Amino acid sequence: MEKMWAGRTEGALSREADDFNSSIHFDSRMYRQDIAGSMEHATMLAVCGIIEEQESEQIIDGLQGILDDLDSGALAIDPDAEDIHMFVEAELTKRIGDVGKKLHTSRSRNDQVALDIRLYLRDEIREIRALIRDLIAAVCEQAEKNQDAIMPGYTHLQRAQPITFAQHLLAYAMMLRRDDGRLSDAAARMNYSPLGSCALAGTTYPIDRMFVARQLGFSGITENSLDGVSDRDFCVELLSALSLTMTHLSRFSEEIILWSSWEFKFVELDDAYTTGSSIMPQKKNSDMAELVRGKTGRVYGDLIALLTVLKGLPLAYNKDMQEDKESVFDAVDTVKMCLRVFAPMIRTMRVNKPNMYAAAQKGFLNATDLADYLTKKGMPFRTAYKLVGGLVADCIAKGKTLEDVSLAEYRAASELFDEDVYAEISLETCVGKRVSAGSTGPESVKAQIRSVQEFLQNEKDFY
Ligand code: ARG
Repeated sequence: MEKMWAGRTEGALSREADDFNSSIHFDSRMYRQDIAGSMEHATMLAVCGIIEEQESEQIIDGLQGILDDLDSGALAIDPDAEDIHMFVEAELTKRIGDVGKKLHTSRSRNDQVALDIRLYLRDEIREIRALIRDLIAAVCEQAEKNQDAIMPGYTHLQRAQPITFAQHLLAYAMMLRRDDGRLSDAAARMNYSPLGSCALAGTTYPIDRMFVARQLGFSGITENSLDGVSDRDFCVELLSALSLTMTHLSRFSEEIILWSSWEFKFVELDDAYTTGSSIMPQKKNSDMAELVRGKTGRVYGDLIALLTVLKGLPLAYNKDMQEDKESVFDAVDTVKMCLRVFAPMIRTMRVNKPNMYAAAQKGFLNATDLADYLTKKGMPFRTAYKLVGGLVADCIAKGKTLEDVSLAEYRAASELFDEDVYAEISLETCVGKRVSAGSTGPESVKAQIRSVQEFLQNEKDFY
């Protein structure tokens, strides 16, 4: 196939070089954005008197026909085309003749591709944010149902203090809410049109960049033509936001895998989100969570790949930048795939409250509260801490819990102990009396649920 840029060179590109150079097999997914951008560009060219009104209409009709045929499958993408921009332009000229060749006036593929990726990622971000919000809703629903589920809270994966499962889940709701915010920020910063930067230096034609920007829903235009064509910060920003989302999903996955084990048995995933073993009949594996944890590495890889591509590039456009798309496409596909199984997996997860409670009864989770009991009665905290440490060591030696210690034994350790100590160190009290903002206490958990629900209802946040 003759190259649209043939002219400068005589020799044909070798087959290997042609394949190597081509990006059609991954950038064809941007055909809708490419056509939308071209339509507005053609409109603008006529508005600014650069081409005839009727030529612009012909171009737009032609582009609409291509869009319809690609959507319906009547037109197949030519795998031999160099990229989606060349394909659409060649097809347009095939359909409407020489007028089609006017479309690329005062435009370069450099600003065209920069425009297309922004349009494409803007749509993807909206989709990902909707999926994140659905996951937040699923987490919040489970939190609402598990406000009374007392479980051990951990530090160093050692039993630390009693919390509710709702409090634990809401921590993930907060992370995911920040993820949503980061995507919203990235989308806002991305939302400037580079079209009209042309190859690198702008153009001598009297184009109206703001017109195209407005038509395509951008907040404005990029202010420097070199930056307009060479900036991929928005791709890096998106990849970094997605990497963090994957970090959160991966940590959540790790816990779900642990909680589903025989050792914990805190939750049971629905059969729809687990698999069996080909040899061990008893197995029920949390493969979906494991895959999410595993796929996190891919998304980190995409981020590092793009950062590395960009780090040594002189201004402005360089072909290295064609590598941006596979990284961002892989990341958005992966994150969407993960979120699509994650939300229903959380929604259908069964929670074993008795097992959680039983686990919370062991491990001296109320030791801090016992120290606080003495502190509230006047003993300095550090002294109380030491005294309780001694009691715990004694209990471990005798194979009992702090609830099993008799009042006489308590009094032998300190005169400050009274009958009320038992009520004070019950798991229900330890959780129920946590009153600080953000704590695992019931009021705080309710406030968190309310806050998350309000966030989900606030459409204003969802651009
Ligand atoms: N396929 C190219 C890319 O993705 C389009 C831009 C090509 N520009 C150029 N000057 N060769 O980056």
